[in-house]
Amino acid sequence: MGKEEEYQETETESNSSDDEEDEEPERWKKHYSSKHRMLLVGEGDFSFSVSLARAFGSACNLVSTTVDTQDNIAKKYSNGVRNVRELEEKGGLVFYGVDAKEMRDHFFLRTQRFDRIVYNFPHVGFLFPEASYCQIQLNKSLIKGYLSNAKVLLKQDKGEIHVTHKEGDPYDKWDLVKKAEKIGLGLHEIVPFFRGDYPGYENKRAHGSQSDAPFPLGDSSTYKFKPNHSSKFK
Ligand SMILES: C[S@@+](CC[C@H](N)C(=O)[O-])C[C@H]1O[C@@H](n2cnc3c(N)ncnc32)[C@H](O)[C@@H]1O
Repeated sequence: MGKEEEYQETETESNSSDDEEDEEPERWKKHYSSKHRMLLVGEGDFSFSVSLARAFGSACNLVSTTVDTQDNIAKKYSNGVRNVRELEEKGGLVFYGVDAKEMRDHFFLRTQRFDRIVYNFPHVGFLFPEASYCQIQLNKSLIKGYLSNAKVLLKQDKGEIHVTHKEGDPYDKWDLVKKAEKIGLGLHEIVPFFRGDYPGYENKRAHGSQSDAPFPLGDSSTYKFKPNHSSKFK
């Protein structure tokens, strides 16, 4: 072996051991891992994303989105701007104006595939009384649009789409599981959701003069879907 080859080989070996040393240990927060490439949809003040970023010690694998403009985030939420800054400082990406019903065509998202796509408490806003037919139809259409778009952006073999949702009437009338199955997503698991599992997370009403206020969670669950045909609820 000549001197140059010897040198190259040593370099390669030392690079690979550096890589191993630099590798961050995997960290978990409930169902989410710091190694998951995650898309957060319909964020309010971005406090859910921040909670994960703090638990992981990094936001490098997080892409956090809102349908709001940047201006609106500042107007609606007392901590919105601060949360966005923290995410960006921790290496996360934040996008404004991302509609869950069209996100598969988003200039950046369409180039990406995710391990977990998460939308907590989807809701179109309080346009009609919560239990009215019109309001339920609008929320059903949001859910359907989110699920079908998320399916396209998911890593095919191992990805999961999550929806955290209130239980009981009128939320049961949204037919979340049936909608998912029609789109070709099987229900994998339903897990009770507790806000306290995500320190710093503040669930936001996100609409009207009370945007920054929380709403009562009552009994809520995270529904996990996978793109296969093994739904338990056929
Ligand atoms: C009840 S709030 C929940 C906010 C946040 N996920 C949380 O847990 O605090 C419902 C959210 O859905 C968002 N939203 C409504 N329509 C949307 C759409 N078409 N695409 C994306 N987000 C939407 C609202 O902007 C709002 O942030």
